[in-house]
Amino acid sequence: MKIKEYKRTYTDEWDFRTSDTKEYTHSYHTYPAMMIPQIARKLIQDYKPKGKLENILDPYMGSGTTLVEAKIQGINAIGTDLNPLARFISSVKTTNFNEGLIEKYFSKTINAIENYKRPQNVDLDHITNVDFWYSKEKAEELYYLTNIINTYPETIRDFFLLALSECVREVSYTRNGEFKRYRIAKEKLHLHNPQTFKLFINKIERNIKGLEDFNKINNKSKVVIADFNTVNEIPKHYIKEGSIDLVVTSPPYGDSKTTVAYGQFSRWANEWFKFENAKKIDNLLMGGTKIKDFTLKTESIKNELKEIKAIDEKRYYEVLSFLDDYYKSITNVSKAIRKEGRICYVVGNRNVKGVQIPLDYFTIEAFETNGFKHIDTFVRSIPNKRMPNKTSPSNKKGANVTTMVNEFIIIMEKI
Ligand SMILES: C[S@@+](CC[C@H](N)C(=O)[O-])C[C@H]1O[C@@H](n2cnc3c(N)ncnc32)[C@H](O)[C@@H]1O
Repeated sequence: MKIKEYKRTYTDEWDFRTSDTKEYTHSYHTYPAMMIPQIARKLIQDYKPKGKLENILDPYMGSGTTLVEAKIQGINAIGTDLNPLARFISSVKTTNFNEGLIEKYFSKTINAIENYKRPQNVDLDHITNVDFWYSKEKAEELYYLTNIINTYPETIRDFFLLALSECVREVSYTRNGEFKRYRIAKEKLHLHNPQTFKLFINKIERNIKGLEDFNKINNKSKVVIADFNTVNEIPKHYIKEGSIDLVVTSPPYGDSKTTVAYGQFSRWANEWFKFENAKKIDNLLMGGTKIKDFTLKTESIKNELKEIKAIDEKRYYEVLSFLDDYYKSITNVSKAIRKEGRICYVVGNRNVKGVQIPLDYFTIEAFETNGFKHIDTFVRSIPNKRMPNKTSPSNKKGANVTTMVNEFIIIMEKI
């Protein structure tokens, strides 16, 4: 039987190679696999659903790119993520902080930095292996900054804490350019000498510029930051069935342990700020828990799944666990959308054991099962996407293969 295939449009219209991806508050904080803001912007502008466009949902909001873009265009938005750091970033990026107050407390911070005294009784017991990840000097500097910021008014505190969040990770001994928690090699530790205070000041200055631009534009629309699991039912107090006009999102491509390490990347801030489940994030996310009882049905990728099963049965069940969660989450998202409402999913096709899984086909098939029709899929290359495009499928050094070269922008409509 012929495998289900769907239309793909190859175009450079979505590449945005020379675009500034750090406009407005998009500059505030890095996050693994961030969406290009211009993609969310173009989707919102060019693929409006018929009738009204009054709200946008991002069911895996990450650092809130879609929410920021919705707000810029004056549209109400709701996003959810199980990772507390993602919610924290999204919340700060979509808040119109008072610039005058921020400047005032920035001056206070600089003053406190100029009068730095090593803090006594440093309490960092909540950080796992704190001495392994931080030099005593750097840990004290970060602790000092934390205590200063925690005295600031609640209305502006988070603006400063978010800049600190990036410093907490960058000042640690974690390797630069890695999302995973790998420590710098022992013999190179002495070369790592980040200037904590300078780093922090630079980030605040950068973020103030972003805030100024963000505050200049429309800020009347409402943003809701939620924490529900899209794999389970969407709580009605957040979203009523059939109420969403448009979804713009980039879901994970696989479980966090073998694809993008959201939990490991976020552990620095999640532990530092004592956010809940700091150590468990990767298990909570889609595909994080292995299941044996699958509900998903698929024609579109059944050959690929069969191939993986023949090579490595354990990996096959891991992949299936992710796909099963993803399928359930698509069913829940589908219910939230109104008739003629639209979904825009930006996905990548990962490679498992040398087999490429066409997640775009699977996504379309799952939405079709839930009453949607396919409009188009645009294929773009991803030179500027912030994620590793190489992983080692066999865990052998040097055995890297390219996992993603293209990204697929799927647009569908509820019938
Ligand atoms: C590709 S990232 C989104 C990136 C985002 N578009 C941005 O620009 O930063 C996918 C997100 O899905 C979240 N996630 C994974 N499983 C989830 C679930 N079951 N419910 C809600 N969010 C989930 C992860 O924590 C991660 O932040």
